[in-house]
Amino acid sequence: MQLYPWKGPFRARVQPPGDKSITHRAVLLSAMTVGDTEIFDPLDSLDTRASVNLVQSLGVELRESTTNRWVLRSPGYDNLKEPDDVVSCANSGTTMRLATGLLAGLNGLVILTGDNSLRERPMARVIDPLRALGVSITGRGGGRAPMAIRGGSHRGGQVTLAVASAQVKSALLLAGLTASEPLTIEENLPTRDHTERFLQAMGADLSREGTRITVKPGRLEAYPVAVPGDPSSAAFWAALAAIVPDSELVIEHVSLNPGRIGFYQVLERMGASIEYSVTQPKPDPVGDIVVRWSPLKGTTVSASQVPGLIDELPLVALLGAFAQGTTEVRGAAELRFKESDRIASTVANLNQLGVRIEEFPDGFAIMGKQTLQGGLVDAGGDHRIAMMLAVAAAAGTGAVDLIGTEAIAISYPQFFSDYLSWASV
Ligand code: S3P
Repeated sequence: MQLYPWKGPFRARVQPPGDKSITHRAVLLSAMTVGDTEIFDPLDSLDTRASVNLVQSLGVELRESTTNRWVLRSPGYDNLKEPDDVVSCANSGTTMRLATGLLAGLNGLVILTGDNSLRERPMARVIDPLRALGVSITGRGGGRAPMAIRGGSHRGGQVTLAVASAQVKSALLLAGLTASEPLTIEENLPTRDHTERFLQAMGADLSREGTRITVKPGRLEAYPVAVPGDPSSAAFWAALAAIVPDSELVIEHVSLNPGRIGFYQVLERMGASIEYSVTQPKPDPVGDIVVRWSPLKGTTVSASQVPGLIDELPLVALLGAFAQGTTEVRGAAELRFKESDRIASTVANLNQLGVRIEEFPDGFAIMGKQTLQGGLVDAGGDHRIAMMLAVAAAAGTGAVDLIGTEAIAISYPQFFSDYLSWASV
C-alpha cells in the first residue's frame, strides 16, 4: 500500500475499537460459567475470533454476534466437551496462553496450534508452571505449539512468575480456579490486571497482598461485559498527535486500567500534554484522554515500566525520532517474542525510512531530531508494526510503500478507514 505524508495539524476525536485484552477474557471466561454471557461492543477481529473459535470447540455456543453485542452460551465448565479436532488459535498468543489455564481442569485431550508466527512463540512459560502443578501438558520441542493438554486434577500451591507477563499470570489464575487447593502467584513486576478484576466481578475468591495474588478454587458466575476502547489501538493516533505540531486528539471511552496507560505516561514525560477524565471507575476504569502536541524531548524507558506499554514500544521508537535528544528503551527483551521480533522489525523498518537507530539485545536508542524519508517497508505479518509504519508515513516527508497491511485485521480491522477519514494529503 502506498502512503503519503499528511498535512498537519491532526485534530480529531476517536472512538477506538473494543479492547482486545478485555474481549479475549470476556469470551474465554464465558466457558467457565453456566448460561449466557453478554459482551457489549466487543472487538471483532481475527485475534478475538480465535478465542471464540476456541470456546466453540469446547461446546460454547455463539448465540448472537452483531457489531454491538455478542452472546455466548456455555453448558458450564463441567459439561464442556473434548474438541473433535486440533484447535487453531491463529495468530493469538492471548488465546493460546489463557486457554492452557482454562483447560487445566478439563477432562479430555486438547491440541492447540496456531499460524507460523504463533508456533514460533515461547510456550514453556505456561507449560513449566502448569506442569509443576501436576497438569499434563507438553509442546513441540518442549516449548512451542502445537501443544497437547490433558486436563483433570491438579494441585494449587505457590508459583513465581519467571517473566512479567499478564498472559502467563492469567493462565495460572484460571488454572487456580480448578485446582484442588488455593494457588498463590508471585508477580514481581505488575502487569495488566484485567483477569483479576474479571474473576472478582464473577464471584471468585481472589485476593492480592503486595506482589502475591491468591485464588481459591471455585466456579464463576456469568457477568455481562461492556468493552471499552483499546488504549493500545488509540496509541497510534496519540503518537501522531504528539508528533505533528498543533495537533489535538480526543480519545473517547477507552480503558484506563493502570496496567495499560504506560504509553500515555511516557508521552507526558516527553512533553506532550495529556488529560484523563475517568467516566467509570469500576470494575475496570474507563474514561477519555486528550492528547495535545507540544515539542517532544527524549526519555528513557526501563524494565520496570515495560509491562505497562509493552505493545506500544515500537511507537516510542518513532516518537524518539521526532524528540529533542536521545530516547532509549531498555529491559524490553520480551519484545523479541511478540508477533514478530519487534526490536528487529522496528529497527530495520525505521532504518529503511532513513532513521538512525541503535539496536540492543533488550531495546533500542534513537537520537532526535530526525526527518523521516519515504521508502519500502515490510510489517512482516505483525499488526502493530504495520500500524506504527502507517503513522510514520503520515508524519514523514516521502511516499512509503508498506507491505503487510493485511495483518492489521488482527487487532484493528477499521484502522485504514479511520486513517483515510483523517488523512489530508
Ligand atoms: C496481553 C498481554 C501482553 C500483550 C498482549 C496482550 C493480555 O502480553 O503483549 O498483546 O491480554 O494479557 P504479555 O503479558 O505476554 O507480555
